Amino acid sequence: MLDVQKIRQDFPMLSRSMHNHPIIYLDNGATTLKPQCVIDAVCQYLTNYSGNAHRGDYDLSHEVDTQFEQAREIIQKFINAKRKEEIVFTSGSTDSLNLVAYGYGDTHIQKGDEILITVAEHASNTLPWFDIARSHEAFVNYIELDKEGRLTLDNVKKAITNRTKIIAIAEVTNVLGYRAPMKEICEYAHERGIIVIADGAQSVPHQITDVQDSDVDFLAFSGHKMCGPTGIGVLYGKYDLLCETKPTRLGGGSNSRYNSCGSVTLKNPPYKFEAGTPNIEGAIGLGAAVQYLNSIGMEQIHEYELYLRNYAIEKMKQLDNIEIYNENSQGAIAFNIKGVFSQDGASLFNTYGICVRAGQHCAKILDEFLNVTNTLRASFYVYNTTEEIDSFIEVCKKGDDFLDAFFE
Ligand code: ALA
Repeated sequence: MLDVQKIRQDFPMLSRSMHNHPIIYLDNGATTLKPQCVIDAVCQYLTNYSGNAHRGDYDLSHEVDTQFEQAREIIQKFINAKRKEEIVFTSGSTDSLNLVAYGYGDTHIQKGDEILITVAEHASNTLPWFDIARSHEAFVNYIELDKEGRLTLDNVKKAITNRTKIIAIAEVTNVLGYRAPMKEICEYAHERGIIVIADGAQSVPHQITDVQDSDVDFLAFSGHKMCGPTGIGVLYGKYDLLCETKPTRLGGGSNSRYNSCGSVTLKNPPYKFEAGTPNIEGAIGLGAAVQYLNSIGMEQIHEYELYLRNYAIEKMKQLDNIEIYNENSQGAIAFNIKGVFSQDGASLFNTYGICVRAGQHCAKILDEFLNVTNTLRASFYVYNTTEEIDSFIEVCKKGDDFLDAFFE
């Protein structure tokens, strides 16, 4: 078991309090706290070597390029990509998924084609596909979830037709937290010439990722959900597919030449996608975050989070006033305090210094499956403790006597 007390010392935010209670941060699905080493890496760039990347011919510029490209290599190794050119820096998962939809989908989807998603997808993996389908007279169809909300290989097989061109699915969904059998799905899809795009926003921060093993074609993830800064993320794509993908932004840094007749020669991936001054401190911060996670070990992080989740579930199951929607998954816990509107529930937790998310969590068609319009969501990370879960459970109990608890 990892030394969580030692880990907690790395996160300055954990010494904060809210409403005279030590902060208990259980909204890691939305964003994670940042360790001091990430804060230091960003500060060091801003303080000591804040030149531009890929532009200057002086020492400072060389220093920036080295750090920036080193971050790309660190991320390449972290997800086991074949080459660092397969790592495109974006502003986050949303940006990455938009880049695949408008850069790859737009040029590969034709009239009558089908894009398969599920009702559990985040808006960022739904809305761009609606738009691409609409503009190409193509269709978005849904792979059925099993009765608990899982995506199974059998249901993928049932959903695929000879018109299916793209499957775009979360590796772990952001509300229900079930993990898709990505490797098996890729194998089956590839035999039929179908491209698989994974939203890794809720998986990459929490488990070992190996894109060569899963053989996924594109993978999107965000830095800020894995101890890194906001405004930085990654689109991984197989190199040949990135070559076929059209950049969605053009400008300096993405081309090797152009002339007055409008003839443009773009650079090779990843640079053709990275027009304009990149988020340099973000990339360097994300590199530091990945090194930090590596120093703990992704397998240990995953095991520890499962342990925390099981600990919480066992205690929540004993409470008659709590409804759990995804008892058997491995990600966030989606739940409600019976008879209490979820936003009111979140406010109650807030009164005790506990941060949980309430609402639809940007997965707005999931309510049709869950038959409930809003939920509370508790999501854990490596710095959370069983003692924090005990405090969370005490507030769950208070939900029984909601108004009294609020004004206690
Ligand atoms: N996508 C983030 C979440 O699920 C913001 O909370």
